[in-house]
Amino acid sequence: MEPGNMDFDTNGWMWDGVYYYPHLFGGIMLTAALLGLSTSFFGGISVTNLPYFLPDLGMFHKKKSGKKHVRVYMDGCFDLMHYGHANALRQAKALGDELVVGVVSDEEIIANKGPPVLSMEERLVLVSGLKWVDEVIDNAPYAITEEFMNRLFNEHKIDYIIHGDDPCLLPDGTDAYALAKKAGRYKQIKRTEGVSSTDIVGRILASAKDMKVYEGHEGSSLHGEPHNLNSIQGEESCANGGHISHFLPTSRRIVQFSNGGKGPGPNSRVVYIDGAFDLFHAGHVEILKSARKLGDFLLVGIHSDQIVSEQRGTHHPIMHLHERSLSVLACRYVDEVIIGAPWEVTRDMITTFNISLVVHGTVAESNHFWNGKADPYEVPKSLGMFQMLESPKNITTTLVAQRIMANHEIYEKRNAKKEASERKYYEERKYVSGD
Ligand SMILES: *[C@@H]1O[C@H](CO)[C@@H](O)[C@H](O)[C@H]1NC(C)=O
Ligand SMILES: *[C@@H]1O[C@H](CO)[C@@H](O)[C@H](O)[C@H]1NC(C)=O
Repeated sequence: MEPGNMDFDTNGWMWDGVYYYPHLFGGIMLTAALLGLSTSFFGGISVTNLPYFLPDLGMFHKKKSGKKHVRVYMDGCFDLMHYGHANALRQAKALGDELVVGVVSDEEIIANKGPPVLSMEERLVLVSGLKWVDEVIDNAPYAITEEFMNRLFNEHKIDYIIHGDDPCLLPDGTDAYALAKKAGRYKQIKRTEGVSSTDIVGRILASAKDMKVYEGHEGSSLHGEPHNLNSIQGEESCANGGHISHFLPTSRRIVQFSNGGKGPGPNSRVVYIDGAFDLFHAGHVEILKSARKLGDFLLVGIHSDQIVSEQRGTHHPIMHLHERSLSVLACRYVDEVIIGAPWEVTRDMITTFNISLVVHGTVAESNHFWNGKADPYEVPKSLGMFQMLESPKNITTTLVAQRIMANHEIYEKRNAKKEASERKYYEERKYVSGD
C-alpha cells in the first residue's frame, strides 16, 4: 500500500509553534497547553494566553522518578479527524509515556493526495485537543526522510516511531518505515477498524446527492428539511446513503476513551453543554475548551440520531450517535458524555448531575433549526444558570460538508479509488489480536 492510500496516512512532522509543556506540579505531572502563547501558530485567531491545566490529570502521572520518559511519535494527515485516528493515537500513547504527533502540511497533502478538507490550523486544533496527545509538530512531511528521522531522534528526543499494521510503501516500492525498523526504533499498532475518512466523505457525498431531491423546496441549502419525519424514525442511521458502517461500538472502546470512571469531585462545578457534535471539528474543540474553563467538570450531552434528524433533516447526522460520542469523549476538555441526551435540559437532569451552568455556543447549527420546538434551555434560563458562550470559531458541520461539496468532483474520484481498496481490505482481512 502506498502512502496516502490508507485513510490513516502516517508520515511526517515538524512544527515550531505550539507545544504542550509538561510541568511538575504538586508531585503530579500536569500538561499545560500553552496554545495561546504561540502567535505563529493560530495566526491571529484568538485563543487565551493563560496556560490551561488539563482536566485529565490521571493520565500524566510521572513514571517512577529517575526513569527516563519514553517518547513516541506518530504522524498523519488527520483530515476529517475521527475516532479511528483518536484510537490509533490512544494505542500509540500506550507504547510510551509521552506522545508527539506530526501533522502533515497542507502542501504535502495536496501533492500526495489532493486538497485536504481541513486546513493545517484546523487539523492542529483537532489533534491538540485529543486527550492522549502531549506535543504536536506542525507541517510534517508526508514521507519520512532520513534527515527528518534524525531530527526526530536528536531534536525531539523520540525513542520510537509508531505506525499502524497496514504496510506503508513509498512510491519506489520501499517500506516507508524501513529506516526506523533498521534502527530498532519502530513499533506497530493495530489498525482501527470500521471507520475512515474515505467512508465519511462517501457519506457526505451520498447524503448531498439524496438532498438534491429537496433543492426545489429550499434553494441549494445543504441543511435539508425535516421532510417525512415518520419515514425515517427507527432507521438505524439515515444519513449513510447506503454506506455500510463497519464500526461496532463495544463497551470496551467506550471504557478506553473514558476518564477512568471518575465523576465530579466534591464541590465540583458541573458545566453542561449539548449538541449533535456531528463531523467533530475544530469549532467543537474550541467551544468545549471554553465551556470547561467555566467549571471543574464538563458534561456533554450528545443528541440522539432521531433528534438531530428532526432538527437538521433526514440526511443528518452524518455520524451516528456512538461515533459522535467517541469523538467527543476523545477530547481532553470533556469529562463525561451523555450518549443520547434529551433535547430539553430538564429540572430533573440538572438535579441528577448537579449541573451548575448550562452553556450554548453563539455559532451552532441548532440556533437556526429549532423548528418551532420549545426552547430547550427554558428551565436553566428560568433558574438563572444559562449562558451563551462566544464561539471561538465560525466553522460548523454544514461548512465542512460544503467544502467537500464544493470540490465534489475531486473527492468523488479520489473516493472511488479508495473505496475499492478499502472493500478489498475488508474482504481479505483476518483476525489480528490487540486493541
Ligand atoms: C453541587 O455543585 C455545587 C457547585 O455548583 C457544589 O458546591 C456542591 O458541593 C455540589 N454538590 C455535591 C453533593 O457535590
Ligand atoms: C465569523 O464570521 C463573522 C462574519 O462572517 C466575522 O465577522 C468574524 O470575524 C468571524 N469570526 C471568526 C472567529 O472567524
